[in-house]
Amino acid sequence: MTYAAYLPFDRDDLLERLEQTLSPHRYQHVLNVEKAAIQLAEAYGQDPIKAGLAGLLHDYAKEKPDSYFQQLIQERNLDPDLLQWGNNLWHGYLGIYAIQEELGLENPEILEAIRVHTIGKAEMSPLDMILYVADYIEEGRNFPGVEEARRIAFSSLEGGVAYETAETLSFLAKKRIPIYPQTLETYNAYRHFLER
Ligand SMILES: [Fe+2]
Ligand SMILES: [Fe+2]
Repeated sequence: MTYAAYLPFDRDDLLERLEQTLSPHRYQHVLNVEKAAIQLAEAYGQDPIKAGLAGLLHDYAKEKPDSYFQQLIQERNLDPDLLQWGNNLWHGYLGIYAIQEELGLENPEILEAIRVHTIGKAEMSPLDMILYVADYIEEGRNFPGVEEARRIAFSSLEGGVAYETAETLSFLAKKRIPIYPQTLETYNAYRHFLER
């Protein structure tokens, strides 16, 4: 796989940078998501290069401290409501600033897939859905229901989004964790794709 069309350096250099930036556990996760995203792209006739690169980069900013994101929100005059949320939203939604500045990625479709990879949105592109689902079903995941999620993902991307969003919402609600409104928009837009 070569990512030369989208980055000013090759995959080996990118892997080296990711290995230096991420914990070993997360580095393995992004490699697994790259693999799952390529498999999904091939299954659905989408571009495996964009999908693979989105997979490799999606958690690039996951280990940045909260102060990094708080400062970014202030410096760039972003919506102050963002300050109420946490890393789970920030690392994708705002992580794209770091990916542009530190890695030089400019492709808007890849950046958008990364931006919404934890929350989705009402109208997702195939690439958005591939990354969203690949993150959930990659081979290192072993929570109850992951086999079902994998089966659905390879029969329908929209179904995969619906299943994952419903599971995520009930997980968050059970733990009394606040739910970002855009996650509800994703659920409402995709829930009818769930097999019943
Ligand atoms: Fe993530
Ligand atoms: Fe991830």
